Amino acid sequence: MGTTLEKEIKRRKTFGIISHPDAGKTTLTEKLLLFGGAIQEAGAVKSNKIKKGAASDFMEIERQRGISVATSVLAFEYKGKKINILDTPGHKDFAEDTYRTLTAVDSVIVVIDVAKGVEEQTEKLVQVCRMRNIPMLVFINKLDREGKDAFDLLDEVEQKLHLRVTPLSWPIGMGLDFQGIFNMWENNLKFFTEEKKQKIGDSIEIKDINDNLINDFIGDQAAENLRNEQELIHSVYPKFSKEEYLNGTLQPVFFGSALNNFGVQELLDAFVEIAPNPLPKMSDIRLVRPEETNFTGFVFKIHANMDPKHRDRLAFVKIVSGIFKRNTNYLHVRQNKMMKFSSPAAFFADKKEVVEESYPGDIVGLHDTGNFRIGDTLTEGEKLNFKGIPSFSPEHFRYINNEDPMKTKQLAKGIDQLMDEGVAQLFTLEMNNRKIIGTVGALQFEVIQYRLEHEYSAKCSYEPVHIHKACWVETDDEKSTEFLEFKRVKQKFLAKDKFGQLVFLADSAFSISMTLEKFPSIKLHFTNEF
Ligand code: G4P
Repeated sequence: MGTTLEKEIKRRKTFGIISHPDAGKTTLTEKLLLFGGAIQEAGAVKSNKIKKGAASDFMEIERQRGISVATSVLAFEYKGKKINILDTPGHKDFAEDTYRTLTAVDSVIVVIDVAKGVEEQTEKLVQVCRMRNIPMLVFINKLDREGKDAFDLLDEVEQKLHLRVTPLSWPIGMGLDFQGIFNMWENNLKFFTEEKKQKIGDSIEIKDINDNLINDFIGDQAAENLRNEQELIHSVYPKFSKEEYLNGTLQPVFFGSALNNFGVQELLDAFVEIAPNPLPKMSDIRLVRPEETNFTGFVFKIHANMDPKHRDRLAFVKIVSGIFKRNTNYLHVRQNKMMKFSSPAAFFADKKEVVEESYPGDIVGLHDTGNFRIGDTLTEGEKLNFKGIPSFSPEHFRYINNEDPMKTKQLAKGIDQLMDEGVAQLFTLEMNNRKIIGTVGALQFEVIQYRLEHEYSAKCSYEPVHIHKACWVETDDEKSTEFLEFKRVKQKFLAKDKFGQLVFLADSAFSISMTLEKFPSIKLHFTNEF
């Protein structure tokens, strides 16, 4: 076991920030980078926001729409730790991108707007994290604004997100009366300074909550409230346990204001102390541990045409075990082909750089000319495939037609590559070979059309098709009379996905239940991984 490898693994923390759009994910990301010294420019200036600059968006379409279409990687060092933030699009139409990114994180920070509380997108994303027992920290943001009562908010988080929470920091006042934060993690009080709330005030150490010093700083009334609230917290919420946090059964909560750089350091300090190092990952044959000396990794994201001048793609690989080295032959398991990479990219806050070696938890970007698909595994020769990157049934379906017969090849190539990237899913009807595109959000149809035109010079149009859900079909016996009968009766609704798996494109929930009743030996799945 290489000692450098072990040391580097212990240094690494790879996580994602999830939230409903506008809760403050971008702002928090920026502040974390500021603390890490990864970016220099001061905080609360709107034009510095990452989403408007070049630091985290690569694609023109992203700038155009002002939506974080892409998932980017931002790395920084803090207190000797190497921290990788995998940014996740908050827009619901790109939820599948986010789900896939969540397969590559070892923990998550959930950002919630104090006034809006738990919103729809947060609910969905937290559900995915809960299913995978990902350790989660919660950051309640925008305390400088009037919002919900802190206790009510914690109730809401418990009920709507089904989390078991315990606060590790506590707000003193809110909105105009926001005075600061009592940090229960480190037992100190931090103040919003009186005259200029954009600055972080001094902190005082509190050994005892009954210390009169508190009254001197925040006044008698606020001090009494704080004491009562602390008493309530201790009687109502479980004591923090790192073990419970790590196994996903307890979620610590922090309060603050990302815009004002307030409460962020408390969050970050606790994060570096408790967040998990790179975790083992299950493959189809065995559990792979980061400390294993042989390199393994998997593709969780493909990003096309980062540089419009070179039509290349970048496959984002999460390193699961061993050390990834430049110019070294690795096995692309699905293609059973050895490949080496001369310019693997590592990501920093504002740039990417060719890297010689990377360690578990890190993300490397591999230039790709069309070899990779989401979910592909790289190893030093072992034939294993990492699990847990399923395609989900799309929500929207349309026929896709070629609008320029001279560009048939370009269209086919474009569709093929966009599907590899996971922008949408392609289904080919068995009956007549017509192609149907399925997406998570309606916006993707526009993205596909735009990108086919701008990147592949191909034109497409859509036609409505009435499909409720894509169901992946499983049978034990493809030759059974029942299965053959199913295929005959449902002929019109059967298609193949990109991997050649049989899919039943059901037009209603009723049709699904009828099918299951009539053909009991057949199983229908809403994801392609079963
Ligand atoms: P997102 O990535 O989750 O979508 O949210 P983002 O950080 O872009 O923040 C959304 C809006 O909320 C931004 O304002 C941002 O400045 C504001 N914001 C973030 N943190 C805080 C906070 O602690 N307090 C207050 N009061 N506002 C906060 P915007 O007006 O929508 O955008 P912009 O014009 O500032 O860019």
